[in-house]
Amino acid sequence: MNVTVRGHTRHYRTVTFDRQRNAVLLIEQRLLPHKFQIIATRDYRETARAIEEMVVRGAGAIGATAAYGLAQGARAFRGQNVSQFSRRIATVYQTLKAARPTAVDPVNAMNKVRQAMSTGKTVEERQVLALAAAEEFAHRDVEHCEAIGRHGAKLIHNGMKLLTHCNAGWLAFVDAGSATAPMYAAQVQGRNFHVFCDETRPRSQGATLTAWELAQQKISHQIIADNAAGHLMQRGEIDLVIVGSDRTLGRTGEVANKIGTYTKAVLAKRHGIPFYVAIPLSTIDWNLKSGFDIPIEERDESEVLGAWGAVTNPKSEIRNLKLGRRTYVRVANPGSGAFNAGFDVTPSELITGIITPLGIFKPTELWRRRRSLGFGG
Ligand code: MRU
Repeated sequence: MNVTVRGHTRHYRTVTFDRQRNAVLLIEQRLLPHKFQIIATRDYRETARAIEEMVVRGAGAIGATAAYGLAQGARAFRGQNVSQFSRRIATVYQTLKAARPTAVDPVNAMNKVRQAMSTGKTVEERQVLALAAAEEFAHRDVEHCEAIGRHGAKLIHNGMKLLTHCNAGWLAFVDAGSATAPMYAAQVQGRNFHVFCDETRPRSQGATLTAWELAQQKISHQIIADNAAGHLMQRGEIDLVIVGSDRTLGRTGEVANKIGTYTKAVLAKRHGIPFYVAIPLSTIDWNLKSGFDIPIEERDESEVLGAWGAVTNPKSEIRNLKLGRRTYVRVANPGSGAFNAGFDVTPSELITGIITPLGIFKPTELWRRRRSLGFGG
């Protein structure tokens, strides 16, 4: 996606790899929208930390980062002993997997890398295969998101008002995004529409990341408080909802996505508004049999008890802070604690369709189509 910073426009991918430095290059998403910066993680532990601390976030983006992280760990190995190499790979895999538990993309991505490596005989061959497979995952992620855009654009008509939750944009993937891909494709086809971005507390990915992306892309949009969607739906102000997913169960069609998604799906059903989920194939979990089995990440309570932002008021009461400096402010009652589940699960009956790179399907159709959707592949 093109990014314009201080008047200069350039194409960026969210995640890339620097072969010479054996480093993963990431857009530092915690600084957006206030600052655009690329950072390099120099070993797999740093890469895992970048996932855990949400320097990089979003299903496809952490999938590609984990794939590159595994290749990075493989390439850092010195020696020719294949058994020792395999033990190291197992450690790297577990470290990266543990960084964020709900999204299945990192696991699916790293399984592809491990599978590719297993065909190599020597350590050196496996190192080469690992990076090639990680690059392949990243390219495939872009292709899948573009295909989601082609299928999903048909749902967006002139004058429509859309709602999206969190950030399933290009920052959440390698490029193009899942929920945003249909918007970007519809824009290219000349359609005008308006997007309401749920603020998405506690980390505000909608207010910070989706709004920034849409502004970069010059798509008409407004940020709404998380609890405003029902009011807009009741007044006929929302025609279509498109969200992403961190894990979609291939067997049941249940969708894990950022906390608050389930609430929006219930509201959409109540008001007869189509509710779509956009996913690349790497977001499908073909193993779990129930949404209750999806590990739901619980994050630090400080995210709920306060908020991060940048100082914009020159008369700020926060002393010693320069304008534009990012800072955390406590909002909640001192001494109160918080519960902070990062994701919820939306049942299939609330979902109108799943927009995949291969077409739009009913959630319960996924299992019937599992062969063409990559199960076992
Ligand atoms: O916690 P995050 O920001 O990594 O959450 C992931 C998400 O951005 C959303 O849940 C998104 O809608 C799905 S990821 C494409």
